[in-house]
Amino acid sequence: MNKKIKKIVNKKNKSKIICLTAYSKNVASILDKHCDLILVGDSLGSVLYNYKSTKEVTLDTMINHSKSVRLGVKKSLMIVDMPYNTYRTPKEALKNAKLVMKKTKCDGVKLEGGKKIISIVKTLVKNRIPVMGHVGILPQTDKKFFFKGKKQREGKRILYETKLLEKVGVFSIVLECVETKLSKQVTKHIKIPTIGIGSSANCDGQVLVIDDLIGMSDSKLKFVKRYADVSKIIDGAVKKYKSEVKKKQFPKAKHSFKS
Ligand code: KIV
Repeated sequence: MNKKIKKIVNKKNKSKIICLTAYSKNVASILDKHCDLILVGDSLGSVLYNYKSTKEVTLDTMINHSKSVRLGVKKSLMIVDMPYNTYRTPKEALKNAKLVMKKTKCDGVKLEGGKKIISIVKTLVKNRIPVMGHVGILPQTDKKFFFKGKKQREGKRILYETKLLEKVGVFSIVLECVETKLSKQVTKHIKIPTIGIGSSANCDGQVLVIDDLIGMSDSKLKFVKRYADVSKIIDGAVKKYKSEVKKKQFPKAKHSFKS
């Protein structure tokens, strides 16, 4: 395990892990001051491209956004989502994860799934590619987005799968919309940190989609808290700019060149 990853893992039971998504340099450089981990999530498919599902996100799109994010991330751990259909076999996963690591200079990749992806995770870890797991709601493959752990059987499966993922070497696991008591059980049951989204304060850390947090999306999801209304600030600034251009108040002489 490399030093940067170890630092995150060592936070377990000591201090909460702060994680957010980023899709470009300018936002990433602000987040980098406050976060432990920055995730280039394939949620960018719905957030930026209006895709109906993350299934439409390609490897090239993830690589391009990650290259931009890399320019803004200096200290946080940077993890990139492997998009749908890019890790169906160990061979395919290794080829694509190597490409992502090489082109984006990220610190690791995130894969969705439990038992089905164990041999894939094993291969990546064996090849020194740090892997973050993701269980609970799996946006790439789930048909219904209903929280996980209501049924006892489902809870048992999630507990079992997180233990399996830990065993094959993931350094952390995202729990997406996992029921409160279950997220507590999972977090207690494994030695690596859990990062929750819609999975209560019982997790070792939290992640949100940045656009939701700053009011740049119209997300009504139960687990989202809007900390600012940045769209209102942009709206106000653009309105003022428009008015000043129309009234010839902008640009002034100081904004212009004279020979
Ligand atoms: O794609 C994403 O942004 C994610 C996080 C919400 C965990 O997977």
